[in-house]
Amino acid sequence: MFYPLERLMNLYDGYQRGFTVNGHSLLLVQDNGRCYLLRNTCPHQQAPLTHATMNNGYLRCPAHGMEFNLMTGKSQGGCSQELQFIAIAYEGNQLGVEI
Ligand code: FES
Repeated sequence: MFYPLERLMNLYDGYQRGFTVNGHSLLLVQDNGRCYLLRNTCPHQQAPLTHATMNNGYLRCPAHGMEFNLMTGKSQGGCSQELQFIAIAYEGNQLGVEI
C-alpha cells in the first residue's frame, strides 16, 4: 500500500523533512535534484539526522559533524556503519513509501 509523504511540487534542493511511518523515524531530503529517504538515525551514535546539513552530495550529522555520502551511504571517515536508505515510491504527483 502506498503511503504518501510529500507532493513532488514541494521538493527542492535543500529540502529536508522528518516523518514517522509505522513507528519508524524517517528523513526525506533532496540534494542536487535527487531525493533520498533514509532512517533518521546517524550511523555513528544514532543521533537524529534532523537538522543535518547537505553539501555537494554529503549529509553532515549535527551531533559530531561526520559526513556521509548520499549516494553510497558511506562516511567520509571514521565510521564503519552506513546510512540506511528506504526505497522511494511514486504515485501520481506524490512521493512516498510502500508499506
Ligand atoms: S551521532 Fe552523528 S556524527 Fe556522531
